[in-house]
Amino acid sequence: MATAGKVIKCRAAVAWEPNAPLVIEEIEVGPPQEGEIRIKIVASSLCHTDLYHLFEGKNKKGFPTVLGHEGAGVVESVGPGVTEFKPGDKVIPVSVAQCGECRFCKSPKTNFCERNWQNDHVDLMSYPTTRFTCRGRPILQFASTGTFSEYIVINQIYLVKIHDDAPLDRVCLLGCGVSTGYGAAVNTAGVTPGSVCAVFGLGAVGLAAVMGCKNAGASRIFAVDINEKKFEKAKVFGATDFLNPKAYNKPISEVLAELTNGGVDFSLECVGNAEVTRAALESCIKGWGVSVLVGYTDVDFSAQPSQLINGKTWKGTLFGGFKIKDSLPKLVNEYMTGKIMLDEFITHKMDLEQINDAVNLMKTGQCIRCIITICK
Ligand code: APR
Ligand code: ZN
Ligand code: ZN
Repeated sequence: MATAGKVIKCRAAVAWEPNAPLVIEEIEVGPPQEGEIRIKIVASSLCHTDLYHLFEGKNKKGFPTVLGHEGAGVVESVGPGVTEFKPGDKVIPVSVAQCGECRFCKSPKTNFCERNWQNDHVDLMSYPTTRFTCRGRPILQFASTGTFSEYIVINQIYLVKIHDDAPLDRVCLLGCGVSTGYGAAVNTAGVTPGSVCAVFGLGAVGLAAVMGCKNAGASRIFAVDINEKKFEKAKVFGATDFLNPKAYNKPISEVLAELTNGGVDFSLECVGNAEVTRAALESCIKGWGVSVLVGYTDVDFSAQPSQLINGKTWKGTLFGGFKIKDSLPKLVNEYMTGKIMLDEFITHKMDLEQINDAVNLMKTGQCIRCIITICK
């Protein structure tokens, strides 16, 4: 390609500081170094975690940055030592790694990788090495990705090659929220046929968890949200019962216990709220109930020890327990053969110039997923 080895100037939405609108800027994207790949991003969706960093995160060091971590694109060029990718490959960059060499990658028990940027750089919410600059300043790539840029550079341990025919403006959803919620149900919770489940929070993550419970054969799926507008969508993904905790004058765990003869077999917290985390655990049945924490928060949470002593299990999940390189190509194929839904998550489509409208839609709970066209 004519651009290989050169700096590319392109458009990106830069978050110069917290709590301020994103600014469309011309940025410079350096060529990929050893083990890195430069990608042309075709589409990217907006995830709640982008908003969390922009508006609520405690870590204010991670600015200026380019947000976006649910993208898909095409390889433009590769750096020295890269053999797994070539220009023209369709790819999904992910904010968790699979280096393939650490003891965690070698174990089938986990998708955790020692080289995840989260291990050492949570204060930055990014890998400290960035190939972005703007107005003479380095700009971070949020969550190691930064997909609200026409071009990004990423280390090969964060990149997955997918099917040549995959529609990038839909499979980008698999880069974070949908895989996280779906895997939380099918992998981390290990939902079993005939079981009773409850999913708290019906954004894309929660809806994907509902889809996971359904595909794993759950017989009853409670969809729990304080925004009742979300119930219609939850039904599309397989929810059978709908609860608004605000509509009751007792804890939602008691309501669920009454409706299920003691509590649900599996509960999934997909909000990112310490109180909901506790409520989800309390909603499980004693003896064998499993509660999975999916939503992210940096607020401490607590529980009564008897909850666990009585036989419940409390777990957490990162990227739904999927090892990225082993699993994402399969999930893309499952979408292409109709086993999993993606189109149903998409409520809006916009151009990069409208990114602040997308941020406002998500902030006010008016969208599930908004797909941003990055490069036309
Ligand atoms: N009880 C139940 N539902 C709630 C509550 C509550 N107390 N508070 C908020 N919700 C619902 C919202 O109404 C919304 O439908 O949780 C849902 C969250 O959805 P989104 O904001 O669209 O977030 P999503 O992208 O699905 O991510 C959910 O997972 O990856 C993490 O950081 C992300 O913590 C976030 C979570
Ligand atoms: Zn590893
Ligand atoms: Zn995300």
